[in-house]
Amino acid sequence: MKSSVTLPITQLDKEPYASILCYPRANPMEIQNRIEELQNHGVQALEFTGKASASNIPVLGKGYVGVVVVAQVNGQRVALKMRRIDADRESLEHEAELLVKANNINVGPKFLAVSKNFLLMQLIDGDLLEDWLETHKDKQLVHKVLVDILEQCWRLDEAGLDHGELSKAPKHLLVDKSQKPFIVDFETASVERKVINVTSVCQFLFMGNSRAAKMLGEVFGERNRLELIGALKNYKRVRTRENFERLLEVLVLNI
Ligand SMILES: Nc1ncnc2c1ncn2[C@@H]1O[C@H](COP(=O)(O)OP(=O)(O)O)[C@@H](O)[C@H]1O
Ligand SMILES: [Mg+2]
Repeated sequence: MKSSVTLPITQLDKEPYASILCYPRANPMEIQNRIEELQNHGVQALEFTGKASASNIPVLGKGYVGVVVVAQVNGQRVALKMRRIDADRESLEHEAELLVKANNINVGPKFLAVSKNFLLMQLIDGDLLEDWLETHKDKQLVHKVLVDILEQCWRLDEAGLDHGELSKAPKHLLVDKSQKPFIVDFETASVERKVINVTSVCQFLFMGNSRAAKMLGEVFGERNRLELIGALKNYKRVRTRENFERLLEVLVLNI
């Protein structure tokens, strides 16, 4: 992978960075439009750095809709999601609306600005939960982070906002340097679907074959599977605070 670089946006028309701004392939028209769009947001430079990669260039992350990098705006570092030109979405504006809804209940990186191709938000400077778990084995700390994630999912359920990708959570749960967990990517979120945030995240964290489930098993010992399934079923059937707290108890409180 190439090393990290910071480029003023006027230099983004050069390869290989042009094709990250217009992933997966740049064309001159689109590049100029996007550089102007960034200028309108007051973006001064982009940092190509991070543990993920796009065409061998380091970035914060990459999905099917966007590539995420660090952007510098008025001397501040923020996260910039750039719409892929092959994305099956016309704009990031819908995602921004759902992110704002999540922010209203204190979930997600703080929304900053949006336009057709760019979403600016709070930078979560840290690690994916699964990587974080590799280096953080302190029971109390892991416990605190898990309860925080579950409470965020509870708030999403209560608000009727379904994230949509929490059973495939490895790329959507981050922990920042102050050990605060964040749920990212409201691209496939919806206020129309049945909400299954708590149950999906539980499946990912405690029941599936995910790396997270294995590591949590190592930190806390195996959960009682039958008790867990029972508590999840109850919560699924009747979504009350009481049933949520019972689930918390089975999952994390008695460790
Ligand atoms: N605010 C953020 N701060 C830091 N990293 C982020 C942020 N938002 C997303 N990422 C990283 O970028 C990746 C891709 O972003 P995501 O919104 O999931 O794109 P997509 O909709 O294409 O899946 C995420 O999985 C995550 O690792
Ligand atoms: Mg994603």
